[in-house]
Amino acid sequence: MSLAEPQAQSFTKVAEFYDELMRPVPYRMWVSYYLLLLSMQEVKPKSMLDMCCGTGTMTEFMFREGFEVEGFDLSADMIQIAREKAERKRMPLRFEVADAADVDMGRTYDSVFSFFDSFNNITDKGQLQKAFESAYRHLAPGGSFIFDMNTAYAFEEKLFNQQDLSKTSKVRYRWKGDWDPETRLIHVTMKFWVGDQVFEELHIQRAYGLEETIDMLMEAGFKDIRFFHSYTLQPPREKSDRIHFSAIRPK
Ligand SMILES: C[S@@+](CC[C@H](N)C(=O)[O-])C[C@H]1O[C@@H](n2cnc3c(N)ncnc32)[C@H](O)[C@@H]1O
Repeated sequence: MSLAEPQAQSFTKVAEFYDELMRPVPYRMWVSYYLLLLSMQEVKPKSMLDMCCGTGTMTEFMFREGFEVEGFDLSADMIQIAREKAERKRMPLRFEVADAADVDMGRTYDSVFSFFDSFNNITDKGQLQKAFESAYRHLAPGGSFIFDMNTAYAFEEKLFNQQDLSKTSKVRYRWKGDWDPETRLIHVTMKFWVGDQVFEELHIQRAYGLEETIDMLMEAGFKDIRFFHSYTLQPPREKSDRIHFSAIRPK
């Protein structure tokens, strides 16, 4: 796969099991943290765009908080699950299949967000630059952009070497990451066992530096760029495994 190609083969077979795998993920806490970062920016959004929304879990949470929210993702399989869930729960949510680098939702929003290291999956820097420009283009003047990213430290510390092979688990898995400090890419082989099914996906993430990310946000036109050791209001540390960024599209 060339670095310039989006990862069409990841988040495909795993899509129908994604929510089960994400059960331990503290989405509710993420909602509170997102609302806190918004309040620090003094942005009071009505409308929101969930970039790289996956199966739409954050989209649903923000809808329940009373916001008008829409989402998109590169993976048609993830979007299919998001749409099915929204229909089942009778939530009027719009989900589209699109690439962050050239998405056009045909409207603007008061806030754009992207959680759970989705941008690390964009391994080509030029494509990530375009994704930041997409966020900017989809924001009303004065709007807020908030997202998180895994750091190189997380990859060095083998964040992705995880397994759950317990017989009682519905979805059993073994993930193994191969980190290359030269390319700053991690190739993660993910093997899953569900009932009689066995399948694998290859996920590739890139670690972007703090300064590098700030420069790209500025290049896209963002101002008031802030960054935090995730889930705190403190600056990133040497051992931060995740960083949250917030930025404003100037009025
Ligand atoms: C770890 S999942 C996170 C999903 C969701 N944000 C969540 O919190 O559960 C990363 C998502 O990023 C999506 N993604 C990766 N590259 C993308 C791109 N270029 N454009 C849009 N979505 C992308 C993947 O398809 C996947 O659904």
